[in-house]
Amino acid sequence: MAKSIKTIGVLTSGGDAPGMNAAIRAVVRKSLTNGVKVKGIKKGYQGLLNEEIVDMNARSVSDTIQHGGTILGTARCTEFTTEAGQQKGADICKKHGIDGLVVIGGDGSYKGAQAMSRHGINTVGIPGTIDLDIACTDYTIGFDTAVNTAMEAIDKVRDTSSSHERCSIIEVMGRNAGYIALWCGVATGAEDILLPEKYDYNEQAIINNIISNRKRGKTHHLIINAEGIGHSTSMAKRIEAATGIETRATILGYMQRGGNPTCKDRYYASIMGAYAADILCAGHTNRVVAYKHGEFVDFDIEEALAMQKNLSDYEYDVSRMLAT
Ligand code: ADP
Ligand code: F6P
Repeated sequence: MAKSIKTIGVLTSGGDAPGMNAAIRAVVRKSLTNGVKVKGIKKGYQGLLNEEIVDMNARSVSDTIQHGGTILGTARCTEFTTEAGQQKGADICKKHGIDGLVVIGGDGSYKGAQAMSRHGINTVGIPGTIDLDIACTDYTIGFDTAVNTAMEAIDKVRDTSSSHERCSIIEVMGRNAGYIALWCGVATGAEDILLPEKYDYNEQAIINNIISNRKRGKTHHLIINAEGIGHSTSMAKRIEAATGIETRATILGYMQRGGNPTCKDRYYASIMGAYAADILCAGHTNRVVAYKHGEFVDFDIEEALAMQKNLSDYEYDVSRMLAT
């Protein structure tokens, strides 16, 4: 057990995600309730290295839970991936009396958290990414909002696509993970779903599918394409040339990462924020908070980072079957 914590620092890192504010709010208020001071570190590890550190009280997080983005700001910081950068970060924490750190971010940010623990700063991670690609947890902050935002946008594109009897390719986020594409594809009744985990998709089979569907009287064809596959515009041109059916590409982009968080994201992020403050205050360190099998739990960071997450073949097969 570590000695008792006096000051917790909190930062958000990597891609922002709706619900991060709810997590920050819960870290701040639960830490204060536990009798521990809180400092907000702006702009992730970059802000730490720049000493952009502010005192936080219960009012600092008023009127924030309903907003997307992160009130602390976020960044990607190459310097922090170096041993010298991590030592500097730990020294700055010590200078500011920060003896406990909560890192809200994806698995890249967890590697930074692990480094801070190695340098003597008690650190706990909270999963914050719209991509759902952290192995130790069934839930990551922001995924629920992102898929609902994307689903609504896809429904709208589908209306106009059907009216014009077009084929639509809609590109959703997920550079390395297809969870957003899979969920949105199933939820919108897409005919094809292209995922980075299934990179060897067959474009000719998609073209044949479009032609046979049109012969059977289908007025539209919806393809959900994950960012990790990409090239939606050139794919649209090739499909139009091969099928003779007007084909348009829509790239949803950053709108999927913004917007007011859903109830689920606000709730889970709030519980995770409080949980992180509690385990730090109880003297645990080098942990990550997770939601697994219906419960809020925590894992050792090393153990969490060593876990593998594979997109379910069964769920993928169901998505294919439903599209027939
Ligand atoms: P995410 O946390 O969303 O996965 P990134 O992979 O961009 O996003 O990581 C966010 C930040 O975490 C990086 O900019 C860097 O500062 C830090 N980070 C990433 N990988 C490492 C690493 N191996 N060691 C230390 N810090 C890292
Ligand atoms: O936040 C997750 C994510 O949207 C990934 O799907 C994507 O790979 C990445 O962030 C892109 O973010 P940026 O353009 O900010 O680097």
